[in-house]
Amino acid sequence: MKTRTKWLVAGTLCVSALGVQAQVNQVRIWAAACANCHGTEGRALEGNETLAGKDKDEMVQKLMDFKSGRKPATIMHQISKGYSDEQLMQISAYFAAQKK
Ligand code: HEC
Repeated sequence: MKTRTKWLVAGTLCVSALGVQAQVNQVRIWAAACANCHGTEGRALEGNETLAGKDKDEMVQKLMDFKSGRKPATIMHQISKGYSDEQLMQISAYFAAQKK
């Protein structure tokens, strides 16, 4: 491989790694909005729902049910409506990956 091509490949890899990192940070920012009630990284204090380490698919299902109004809630109807389905899936994956 010519040196110029090598640099080009290295540069492309680097830029795509930055893209992934930016997306991870974006999900963390969305998830931070849940911390007031569900605790830092989803580990809630007594009396609130812990999200850390919960099953991702169940969490997505609950959030979709809040969004559609199917599942009764006091506050989660409003909150879940503020996110796209894709965002709710990414936030759920984030919390599922946190230690309990
Ligand atoms: C103002 C406090 C508050 C915030 C902020 C909040 N929640 Fe909730 N969450 C609740 C309450 C209270 C419930 C119980 C259902 C209800 O009454 O709305 C709940 C329930 C849930 C449940 C169901 C838990 C279970 O196992 O039954 C999930 C999942 C959830 N929230 C996810 C989130 C996510 C994701 C965010 C951030 C995008 C978030 N919540 C932000 C208060 C909050």
